[in-house]
Amino acid sequence: MRPGMTIRQGEHMSISRRSVLAGGAGFAAAACANGAALPVTAFHIDGALHAAGDEAYWREVAAAYDVMDGVVNLENGNWGLMARPVLARYTAHTETVNRRNSYFARREYGEMHGAINARLAAALGAGPDEIAITRGATEALKALIAGYNRLQPGDGVMFADLDYGSIQNAMAWKAAQTGGRVVRLSVPEPATHDGLIAFYDAAMAASPDVRLLLLTHVSHRTGLAMSVADIVAAARLRGVDVIVDAAHSWGQMDFDVTALGADFVGFNLHKWIGAPIGVGAMYIRADRLESISPDMSAEPWERERTVGRVHTGTMNFAAVMSIPDALDFHAGVGPASKAARLAYLRNAWVEQVRPLEAVEILTPDDPRLHAGITSFRMKGKTSAEDNKALAERLLSEFGIFSVLRDGVAAGCCVRITPALYNTPEHADRLAEALHKIAQDA
Ligand SMILES: Cc1ncc(COP(=O)(O)O)c(C=O)c1O
Repeated sequence: MRPGMTIRQGEHMSISRRSVLAGGAGFAAAACANGAALPVTAFHIDGALHAAGDEAYWREVAAAYDVMDGVVNLENGNWGLMARPVLARYTAHTETVNRRNSYFARREYGEMHGAINARLAAALGAGPDEIAITRGATEALKALIAGYNRLQPGDGVMFADLDYGSIQNAMAWKAAQTGGRVVRLSVPEPATHDGLIAFYDAAMAASPDVRLLLLTHVSHRTGLAMSVADIVAAARLRGVDVIVDAAHSWGQMDFDVTALGADFVGFNLHKWIGAPIGVGAMYIRADRLESISPDMSAEPWERERTVGRVHTGTMNFAAVMSIPDALDFHAGVGPASKAARLAYLRNAWVEQVRPLEAVEILTPDDPRLHAGITSFRMKGKTSAEDNKALAERLLSEFGIFSVLRDGVAAGCCVRITPALYNTPEHADRLAEALHKIAQDA
């Protein structure tokens, strides 16, 4: 709960889910005069554990989202919708910032930013000096890679096909800057938990010059979830540092940053935490700060903290101010319940489609290896054209919106990404569509 909130024990249940659904009620009033302490009074759901199949509960949560008509949107990986209460707060914050202009920025925002940074750090299980707010995962990861100062000429950097394209490019840039080489991996399909750990370990053993590894926690291409803690531990034994791309994991999965065991992590908050577009976070474990050089623009006081490793300039203040609101909503739904629901919606279509010979589902059913995202392709159809056409057919014939994903060494695919407002009926609709498409194949 946010500092300053005064919800007494027992009030939770009564104002809880109803107030989420009330959406905007009370939000205009929430934009208090100095914008510094917007009281959260309007949205608290119980945060209790709810079964992934408790449809009555999930219907209520789904009703907190305003969703476009006309298509079943199963492409929620680009970014996540804000729930209506968060959107209302974001609008109120935007009005506050706009009305108070520089007076707000110069006299009020600084302290607020520090408090939000501390709140975010606590939610992530990190110390306040270990976290810096960024505009997204890209900014955080690029700054980590650019600032990493342990590479000597000739040292290698390693990344895989399932990593994010622009971050792969950043790693290759780093190698070029430091006179090192690039080791590119192709993650095997199908993957297994132990197999993935062994795969990364063997790759590092085969390239003992590698000093820096990029590891994507949940792949945006296939949805494969990596056993980050195990791979980081294996890397540590080989003297390899790991930068973790958690753009798709925190919020889709329930964990805190210490569980990753990683020293350097980039997050965003606009995919699975439900904050406005344009916010993310950089994490550097306190005792590894020296391995990332201060940003060229860092002030002296920032140099002892993660905030000194990324310098954004003027940010969208209102988006940052909405971080606690998004975290409140996320906590209210319940991070563990949310993660279980997203995996449940994924299983709802995968279980029906897995038996089809003509369809390859690219994430295994081992719950350690997936969250909500899962991609598929029709067997043997690996080109971008094939999979673009498949996504188009899903849309035009069945009203299901999905997206082509390329860059997977084993072939392109179509990604399915459910959100909290999706239902098992949507999963059924997708499964029926794939049965029909498989018949035609
Ligand atoms: C795996 C992965 N890494 C990084 C990013 C970049 O995230 P952001 O939009 O926060 O910069 C994305 C965005 O889709 C992603 O999927």
